[in-house]
Amino acid sequence: MQVDLNESWRIGAVEIPSRLVLAPMAGVSVQAFRRQGRRFGAGLVCSEMVSCAGLSHKNERTLGYLRIAADEHPLAVQIFGAEPGVMAEAARMVEDAGADIVDINFGCPVRKVTKTGAGAHCLEEPARACAIVEAVANAISLPLSVKMRRGLANGSRTCLEVGPQLVDAGAASLTLHPRSAKQMYTGEADHSLTAELVELVDVPVIASGDITSRARAQTVLATTGAAAVMVGRAAQGNPWALSQIMGEDAEPSREEVVAELVLFMRETIRELGEHRATGFLKKFYAWYLGRGRFPKPFKQELVQLQTLDEVEQRLLAAAPGARFVLERLEDELPQGDEVLLDLPISIYGGG
Ligand SMILES: Cc1cc2nc3c(=O)[nH]c(=O)nc-3n(C[C@H](O)[C@H](O)[C@H](O)COP(=O)(O)O)c2cc1C
Repeated sequence: MQVDLNESWRIGAVEIPSRLVLAPMAGVSVQAFRRQGRRFGAGLVCSEMVSCAGLSHKNERTLGYLRIAADEHPLAVQIFGAEPGVMAEAARMVEDAGADIVDINFGCPVRKVTKTGAGAHCLEEPARACAIVEAVANAISLPLSVKMRRGLANGSRTCLEVGPQLVDAGAASLTLHPRSAKQMYTGEADHSLTAELVELVDVPVIASGDITSRARAQTVLATTGAAAVMVGRAAQGNPWALSQIMGEDAEPSREEVVAELVLFMRETIRELGEHRATGFLKKFYAWYLGRGRFPKPFKQELVQLQTLDEVEQRLLAAAPGARFVLERLEDELPQGDEVLLDLPISIYGGG
């Protein structure tokens, strides 16, 4: 069965213009990543997980995650935590910051998070998970979605027990990454569970895990009945994976790759400041320039350079035509950030 990825759908009252969602990824899903995702066809983009405790303490760096640009919408901001009251307070801040959807993380498998009772641990405590969802749903007027794993242990089917309860508690949509927390990212996402979950709930389900091609996206949508597919790792340094899933099969030229990377660097410096951006960006060089696009020594050379300005010069020297592509991209981007919670943007990074 052929599935139309361009079909729009809804989470609550929020219209999502395509059936492709860009995954929340800690250490990756900065604003530049999300804006790029929207340009390449994602109907919905998500922030990385944001600590509700950090928001409630008004931690400056945590508040920076609530910086939202005009061209990101629709955007879900994801929060994590274990206390219903603190999660509700954080959700209100997310709503005030201008997000379209509040997403709750019940999937993070990292011990630092699960040992506090948050992330995937919540799947083992359905009463607490439901109390969190209920408190958040009552605190906001935005729709609320939940992202979860299949459960903690390998082979677990906990998501099928907890998922319907979360919907009863107020979740307007569920995202399932059908690996166990123990699996981390090994093995395969078992989307037969996604199909089972779709049968059990009357809200849209998003399928996350191992969506790397248009064929895979079509198959998962057709065989699970999910409303949308979510793409994570395949889009790291490769926004063309998104447009390919949406049906365009053009491979990018070297000039386009360099232009997108340089634009990504410039935006990230503006968001995080030069110092934080320098370390943050290193992993992106290999992601962008890999896949046979540039020789390996070139990527290694970039990582050794001292300043981001030098990296940019080196990249533009390797593909001189990229300057023109970059100029066009920058001209097309809408200018001006939204003000965040009435605070000047400058305290959140590069100014
Ligand atoms: C580096 C990295 C960071 C992630 N951070 C988050 C996160 O903050 N919140 C979340 O719900 N999932 C997170 N995930 C999980 C992804 O959203 C997604 O469910 C998972 O990677 C499977 O999809 P994929 O095979 O398309 O990558 C992360 C995954 C990766 C690889």
